[in-house]
Amino acid sequence: MLDYSNSEVVLETRDLTKHYGGVHALEGANFKIHKGEHVAIMGDNGAGKSTFVRQITAVEQRTRGDVILGGQSVHFGSPIEAREAGIETVFQNLALADDLDVPSNLFLGREKIKFNLGPFSILDNKAMREATMAGLVKTGVKIPNILNPIRNMSGGQRQCVAIARTAAFHSKLTIMDEPTAALGVQETAQVENIIRTLKEQGEPLILISHNMRQVFDLMDRIVVFRRGRICANLHVSDTDPQDVVAYITGAKTGEEFPEAR
Ligand SMILES: Nc1ncnc2c1ncn2[C@@H]1O[C@H](COP(=O)(O)OP(=O)(O)O)[C@@H](O)[C@H]1O
Ligand SMILES: [Mg+2]
Repeated sequence: MLDYSNSEVVLETRDLTKHYGGVHALEGANFKIHKGEHVAIMGDNGAGKSTFVRQITAVEQRTRGDVILGGQSVHFGSPIEAREAGIETVFQNLALADDLDVPSNLFLGREKIKFNLGPFSILDNKAMREATMAGLVKTGVKIPNILNPIRNMSGGQRQCVAIARTAAFHSKLTIMDEPTAALGVQETAQVENIIRTLKEQGEPLILISHNMRQVFDLMDRIVVFRRGRICANLHVSDTDPQDVVAYITGAKTGEEFPEAR
């Protein structure tokens, strides 16, 4: 297996922490991802995985800690700024139509969109449709009638389009928060193809997933979150699903603040 620990660090977090009042959703996360590396983040519901992503992408402002992208300490004001800096994110629950007009929406900020149909948005730009189609072709995602307004697509199809776009645009880092949780078998396979394409292109990826098979098939490394803390940093070749489950449930404990690198 490839060891990435000597490769260029794409993103690092130091002591990344988020408290919601008394809720310590994320505490002291020390994390690194290297060029070309695909890292899974696993953990029980409520472990702090999405919170971690929201602090990196500035959906919210962190309580403390550092986010370092390409060697530079960054303080993004919004998810749009994070994307402009090269972090492409597919947020959890994107498949919900309600989420399509919130500022954290994957489409917002770079493309021309009409927000004139209540909670739904229409892709309003020929060039953007072409880029989407190019992404779809590249990744093997099959969407009948791509030229139909996106409001006519199922949640799963919309999710696939959003994910295909991450492969169409070269980014410094792609983050996917449970991209296949709401998808069927075929759509899941399509998303996994996109992940493989990103791997072939040497593009680093953070994948939040509960799917052991998916993680062991596709990822290089697994970082486990438990109760807001990183509790394990495991190379897939040095671990097995049982071991990972033991860390997720707390049956096995690691160091309190391991360096996840
Ligand atoms: N906006 C918020 N206000 C208060 N608590 C929150 C908020 N967002 C998340 N939390 C809490 O932070 C913890 C981590 O949540 P989250 O990051 O969504 O977990 P995960 O993605 O691992 O399932 C949970 O206890 C959750 O209830
Ligand atoms: Mg989550």
